[in-house]
Amino acid sequence: MKRSEVNTIIREADAFVKSFQFHLPPFAYWTPEDWRKKGPEAKEIADHKLGWDVTDMGQGRYHELGLTLFTIRNGAPENLKSGRGKTYAEKLLIVGVNQITPFHFHWQKTEDIINRGGGKLRIQLYNSTPDEKLEEGSEVTVSLDGVVHTLPAGSIVTLLPGESITLPTGLYHKFWAEEERVLCGEVSTVNDDLTDNCFLDALGRFSDIEEDEPPLYLLVGDYGTYYLYAD
Ligand SMILES: [Fe+2]
Repeated sequence: MKRSEVNTIIREADAFVKSFQFHLPPFAYWTPEDWRKKGPEAKEIADHKLGWDVTDMGQGRYHELGLTLFTIRNGAPENLKSGRGKTYAEKLLIVGVNQITPFHFHWQKTEDIINRGGGKLRIQLYNSTPDEKLEEGSEVTVSLDGVVHTLPAGSIVTLLPGESITLPTGLYHKFWAEEERVLCGEVSTVNDDLTDNCFLDALGRFSDIEEDEPPLYLLVGDYGTYYLYAD
């Protein structure tokens, strides 16, 4: 993706989030120049990959296959192992109409996806097989706002504003918005995008960026370039 496109998407996402009276933390608006001046006190943001993430899964068709995320908080995998400290994460997902986040599951992360407002969120579900394919034959059991539902393989669940689903580990999910863009929340155990996404089809998790203008704000993949204390 071109950086100019990423900047436009971030500007529009920020306005969309604000339209719900939802406010992002200060680091959402730190510029590349701000980041160059930050010391080790800001290391948690870079180390835990908090902040903006605009991805086209490396496919160059962002509006059909892509997602904008903002990670508000996140622990480290060590927290999960020890059961202490920040064992949790919170994100926003901005899901466009017919913009697909393709089938994937997580080995470690249990996540709740919440429709915070906008259109309808559609989520298709399959159990995974031991060799990480879609399990066509088995029913899927999920909790929707505390109520258990057992559904045929490949069912599409609709979440209206206010509704949510708990996605357990190993459950394949694919989602998109209908009618209007959706502001989703995600509340989960620790998120590790480097090791904990199993995509059904071989896709990248992050975008390749062509630098045609300066970044408005940094993506999580930019901290190593602009922040002196990034690992
Ligand atoms: Fe997921």
